[in-house]
Amino acid sequence: MPDRASSNTEPVDNSDQEARRAARRRFLLGTSLLGASLTLDRRAFAARLRRPTPSSLGFEELTTAPSPHNHAVAPGHTAQVVIRWGDGVLENAPAFEPASATYKTQATQFGEGCDHVAYFPLPLGSASSDHGLLAVNHELCFRHMLLPPERAGPKFGKAEARVEMAAHGLSIIEVRLKDGNWNVVGDSAFARRITVEEPFRLTGPAAGSKRLATAADPKAQTVLGTLNNCGGGWTPWGTLLSCEENINMYFQGDFEALPESEVPNARRFGMGTPRHRWGESIDRFNADREPNEFNRFGWVVEIDPYSASSQPRKLTALGRFRHEGATCTLTPDGRAVVYTADDSKGEYLYRFISHGRFDPEDRAANLNLLDSGVLYTARLEEDGQLHWLPLEHGTDPLTPENGFASQADVLIEARRAADLLGATPLDRPEDVETSPVTGRIYASLTKHSGRGTELGHPVDAANPRSENRDGHVLELLPPGEDGARDHGAPTYRWEVFLLAGDPKQESVGARWHPKTSDAGWFSCPDNLAFDPLGRLWVATDGNSRNQRMDGLFACDTSGEGRALSRAFFAGPAGSELCGPCFTPDGTTLFAAVQHPGLVAGSSFAEPVHRWPDSDSDLPPRSSVVALRRADGKPIG
Ligand code: FEO
Ligand code: CA
Ligand code: CA
Ligand code: CA
Repeated sequence: MPDRASSNTEPVDNSDQEARRAARRRFLLGTSLLGASLTLDRRAFAARLRRPTPSSLGFEELTTAPSPHNHAVAPGHTAQVVIRWGDGVLENAPAFEPASATYKTQATQFGEGCDHVAYFPLPLGSASSDHGLLAVNHELCFRHMLLPPERAGPKFGKAEARVEMAAHGLSIIEVRLKDGNWNVVGDSAFARRITVEEPFRLTGPAAGSKRLATAADPKAQTVLGTLNNCGGGWTPWGTLLSCEENINMYFQGDFEALPESEVPNARRFGMGTPRHRWGESIDRFNADREPNEFNRFGWVVEIDPYSASSQPRKLTALGRFRHEGATCTLTPDGRAVVYTADDSKGEYLYRFISHGRFDPEDRAANLNLLDSGVLYTARLEEDGQLHWLPLEHGTDPLTPENGFASQADVLIEARRAADLLGATPLDRPEDVETSPVTGRIYASLTKHSGRGTELGHPVDAANPRSENRDGHVLELLPPGEDGARDHGAPTYRWEVFLLAGDPKQESVGARWHPKTSDAGWFSCPDNLAFDPLGRLWVATDGNSRNQRMDGLFACDTSGEGRALSRAFFAGPAGSELCGPCFTPDGTTLFAAVQHPGLVAGSSFAEPVHRWPDSDSDLPPRSSVVALRRADGKPIG
């Protein structure tokens, strides 16, 4: 039975026998990349647990408020800016001159709005922690921060729309660690900018669907570009998964004038609320001229970072919605499992299981694993059980009578299919991560201020707070013992891991470990990551509502320090923290500082600060930072 008590001083449930057994056992730790593994030293782990604080995390907490104009990291650690918006990615990139940017210049440079970060060791198959590739999502940009006032305002036209387009997508860079600093390799054969003009091959059941056909691609085989790439993940075969999230921001036109059968789809996806003006000058972003283009976005894409000439792919088998994380693990018999979430109020959690099995000896075959399988959505029962409900065409209610003529239709309208199946509406599910130590899964639900009001969904066991402004984290438990859990099982158990927010304000109803400090609690969990010892790291997007900076926090998930959160890093004002990811040895934690300076009244010309350069000629720039211990030992 999930514990729904919300006393702000109540200890998080530590009675879990499995967690205690786990702390005594010798674990094989998946490093989460390429099947490489480390063996945890049991005695070191036990020694940490004997410390006065029950947390296994040994770093001194970040307690001092940072200057709002700068970042801050826990004492004894360094934060190095690795790459910033506008830095060169391709060899021919010109110097960064944002006021006069063109599509061509921006498409050779690091994009804006960096979100998910993934580290891929070099060479492929190694567990190298000092040489690798970083694959970085460029989720979004804000016109008034990207362009000078004239170009963002009266002179905004096709050239400016195309600068925005080039600022989106992804960057892949090669990085090397030398003397404690990460350096971008300038002439790397791996370097790549993927923009909204890159051809992506459609794979899976919706490839070829007439609902994805356009004038430029009548057979629905190839889509130009990827958009609003937010969270993501990586696979055991060394590819990147990148998630298309808020694609409604890019399409103009009258969606109510679409063919009758397409209108519910457009409404359910929130189309007709563009933030960008690309459709004024580029036909495919205007539904009046190209009605099907919007169905070609909202997918998970897979990219092989080890081959700059490989064609990226859109994985329609994983369903179409506002994808946030897409994190991969394996069933006991080797099928690939991808957990992915739909980040809108009251949307759902999903699991995909491939038909084929992962073969460590056959990477080429693995590259097609996510083309075919079964997509499930989650129903979280009041009694603590979680049922995975398959989105399979032909099984009631996913039938022609309900407007689903094929599996392609089910996947294109996965949200509506999940509605009919009775999935549990959640408080904006963002990232989903599996612990490399226990195999338990953690889902961050960032917030849902309408929960329990007439605007939103009713309060329930899995979403226990009305007007949830602080978010919470769910823990999902596949059957089996820690370290050997079955990610293919039809039924799991679930728990509320923590309820975020200020533990000192009773009305908030937060639930943390009682020793969580004033600095250690947070609001609005977004991206998650595990370190090699299985501690959970949480990036926040909305902590600033408490007059605190968004940043990075860490806690144990098992043992006596369960849900004892500690503050580690804070970003500059206006930023949210994204994309945390560790090197396999845990000595570097890469994180993305997204949209620094995005506060009311701040603009390209008159920003609230100019992080990270503090150069009076440059606006604030989204950047990837490398966080390390000053002595080079593993973080935490
Ligand atoms: Fe792009 Fe759900 O954050
Ligand atoms: Ca996010
Ligand atoms: Ca993650
Ligand atoms: Ca976010």
